[in-house]
Amino acid sequence: MTHAVEVEGLTKVYPPPARGGKPVRAVAGIDFAVREGEVFGFLGPNGAGKTTTIRMLTGLARPTAGRARVLGFDVETAITQIKKRVGVVPEVSNLYDELSARDNLIFAMQLYGVPRAERAPRADQLLARFGLAEKRNAPFASLSRGMKRALTIAAALAHRPQLLFLDEPTTGLDVMSARNLRRMIAGLREEGVTVFLTTHYLEEAERLCDRVGIIVGGRLVALDTVDGLKASIHRKPGVEVVLADGEGATETQRIEGDDLAAALDAALAAAAGRRVLAVNTIRPSLEDVFVQLTGLSAQTMLQEKGGKG
Ligand SMILES: Nc1ncnc2c1ncn2[C@@H]1O[C@H](COP(=O)(O)OP(=O)(O)OP(=O)(O)O)[C@@H](O)[C@H]1O
Ligand SMILES: [Mg+2]
Repeated sequence: MTHAVEVEGLTKVYPPPARGGKPVRAVAGIDFAVREGEVFGFLGPNGAGKTTTIRMLTGLARPTAGRARVLGFDVETAITQIKKRVGVVPEVSNLYDELSARDNLIFAMQLYGVPRAERAPRADQLLARFGLAEKRNAPFASLSRGMKRALTIAAALAHRPQLLFLDEPTTGLDVMSARNLRRMIAGLREEGVTVFLTTHYLEEAERLCDRVGIIVGGRLVALDTVDGLKASIHRKPGVEVVLADGEGATETQRIEGDDLAAALDAALAAAAGRRVLAVNTIRPSLEDVFVQLTGLSAQTMLQEKGGKG
């Protein structure tokens, strides 16, 4: 198994924000690997160290300690090799407001040294793929939020990178735009592009990612497939049946088991003729995993930061 990203003891300490303050340990010695071809999710609340990690992997910040290899190249010694082969979509778009959608793509290709003859056809292809063909001549500033995000991703793909970093691709987008983007990201996996994304959204990580790392306070507290994470916690799947006990009170019967149909049979047998008021299936969600592993509430993840997107 080849790894697209390999990280050992990666650490970033920022200088104190104010004179006499304490240094900020944004990333506190993390180890993980991203497999080639997977969609890997870095899930964590505000200030967890997600963006700092991406910045160290893409040459925008120097690790304080530890090492990282991206596509086999060391970030300390071979960042130029890495930059040629990866695409980065930052939290805040890096495109030019006054340039048209198409010119932004052409300009990105110029920066990446895409041969001149390939630029225009590739720009048109990307515009079509991201549903932006009609907006090809519109200035970036005039696009909707969802279109801006889509064009920023298109620009990051201009040089056909093997690995794409997406920092909170759907934050601040409406439901439809977020869904379109998720579909697009799933499509990248089909093409064999490795995707490293960060997100606050438990549900997004659950739907989109092959494996998920949970980062809190600069530390990686879990890393596994979504199913693996769910299996690791104490809450087991099963069925819950709410019964009337005949005197106006209710009783809840809980039967655990991976086979929900069998659990339901058992729960109904236990009802023994009493009236069934409700039947619920219990499936641990990634939210249960997050709450159990971090001791934080799921709400922690939903706090949006201001002024971004
Ligand atoms: N350039 C910087 N200088 C000093 N401290 C920084 C810098 N960038 C980030 N930090 C601090 O490092 C910590 C981690 O920040 P980071 O941006 O990596 O978190 P994040 O997980 O991306 O959060 P968010 O979900 O809000 O984007 C925070 O405490 C932040 O204030
Ligand atoms: Mg961030």
